[in-house]
Amino acid sequence: MSDPGALAPLVRRYEHGSRVPGWDRAADLSKNPAVVPDPATTPVPDDLRALIEDYMTRYPDRRSASIPSLRAAQRVHGWLSPTAVEQVAAVMRLTPGYLIAVATFYDMFEHRPVGEHTVFVCTNISCSLRGADRIYEAMQDLAGDDPRFNIRGFECLGACDIAPMASVDSIYIGPLSLDDCSTLIQQLRDGAEPLPDKQLARRPVAARFWQDPPAAALAGEPAGGHAAQGPAASAADERGGPTGGEVDEKDDR
Ligand code: FES
Repeated sequence: MSDPGALAPLVRRYEHGSRVPGWDRAADLSKNPAVVPDPATTPVPDDLRALIEDYMTRYPDRRSASIPSLRAAQRVHGWLSPTAVEQVAAVMRLTPGYLIAVATFYDMFEHRPVGEHTVFVCTNISCSLRGADRIYEAMQDLAGDDPRFNIRGFECLGACDIAPMASVDSIYIGPLSLDDCSTLIQQLRDGAEPLPDKQLARRPVAARFWQDPPAAALAGEPAGGHAAQGPAASAADERGGPTGGEVDEKDDR
């Protein structure tokens, strides 16, 4: 008999308790093998194509560009739809099956449509000790059934020094208080910038990093580039310099 006081399972399980759907289903050998989509008949947005081709030039083996290319396609389509995967496959000259095998290994690829606002609330140890679990619950309650939100718990986002924190549409924000949750969700609903004063990129130390030419070059950005969210952005604006890295890549950091 099940224990009525037991906690509900946090991780979704499929057949036989597996976390991976269909892992034990036999391959259908009657199907034709997946083929590389024909680039001549597979329409790909020009920006996405250019980006993927650029990624491929950065590695000795083009397959190493799979993850950034899939991320780029996910940004364009909102999730890794069959069309998105096919477009990446056509440009990279790989089968969709190869790319899906890569993508299903990683947690940040979406395999079904999700809301336009992705909020990863870190619930790992440093954040948890500082109240992350209640913040996660509050975010979920405040977002409710609004389909625009994709609120998920996440394991250590690598910014423990601003615990408890969350990644909000790829912007790191913290330390968060319970009171911040309603403000944050409302700002996202209104299309406003989320909690600007608590964004990691706006901290003086981050702004200094992106204004430092050797450090910025090491990170593959022009000096002042990434600080488009922070004080350095206005400084760069004033001197007419670069205010942001490529729009396509900024979101990944
Ligand atoms: S534990 Fe939350 S960022 Fe590391």
